[in-house]
Amino acid sequence: MLTEKDGGVALVTVNRPQVLNALNREVLLKLRKVLEELESSPDIRVVIITGAGDKSFVAGADIAGMVEMTPDDAREFSRLGHETFGFIDAMTKPVIAAINGYALGGGLELALACDIRVAAENARLGQPEVGLGIIPGFGGTQRLSRLVGPGRAKDLILTGRTVTAGEALSMGLVEYVVPQGEALSFARRVASQILEKSPSAVTRAKSAINRGLDIPLEQGLRLEEEEFSLCFSHPDQKEGMRAFLEKRKPRY
Ligand code: HXC
Repeated sequence: MLTEKDGGVALVTVNRPQVLNALNREVLLKLRKVLEELESSPDIRVVIITGAGDKSFVAGADIAGMVEMTPDDAREFSRLGHETFGFIDAMTKPVIAAINGYALGGGLELALACDIRVAAENARLGQPEVGLGIIPGFGGTQRLSRLVGPGRAKDLILTGRTVTAGEALSMGLVEYVVPQGEALSFARRVASQILEKSPSAVTRAKSAINRGLDIPLEQGLRLEEEEFSLCFSHPDQKEGMRAFLEKRKPRY
């Protein structure tokens, strides 16, 4: 795992290029530790996750490490993935996936846990697990259907087929497609747009969206009222609105 910090943005690179950045227990534990550190770093406001090399974001969980697992080992591994990726959901800071190549299986599940996905044209995305005699185990059966709907999720998961970046864009599986080699620089541009905005409002918006996904609409709207009201107890609201009225940029 490599981490670089630059002007409020942290770049986390999954770094096992010899196996297309496949995730094993050790990598998941390191990822979790790095994300925890970034969450508590006041100088960091946005996190970008990418994969080392120009071929792969993350080609899945490490198949060699799973082949001899018992059912108990598998449950524990799945839970470790859920805890790690669940931490991304719970982070107060937005996390952007810069998908620079293959995002398969656990790799797509990592991207699904991120808030915004930028894919390079050469990216290939899918949940090929059923071809290996397993199902997605790092959140794919749950997060994919929430993002693209149950029909598309079942198509991808039951056939195990891989989609191009263009098809992923058309089904809402990624938010942007950019030329090969530009996923990271584009993700940085998205990050810089976020950096201009109120950090407390960004955090509240992420949290309201994530928490709202799991509750009925009426409850979600009550949650929004509460979060909206709380914005008015933060100085960023006065600063943002006064700056607009005074025709100047807000200072957050
Ligand atoms: C272990 C992997 C790997 C993986 C690639 N490698 N993906 N090793 N686990 N997920 C290794 C290859 O074995 C190979 O090692 C090296 O990386 C380069 O890969 P190649 O296959 O030679 O590259 P290429 O022919 O270009 O094919 C790229 C590919 C293919 C299409 C991405 O590697 C592939 O299909 N990988 C597996 C994708 C997958 O099924 N992912 C889902 C895993 S299950 P050597 O030593 O030969 O050079 C999963 C479950 C999540 O993610 C939930 C768990 C709880």
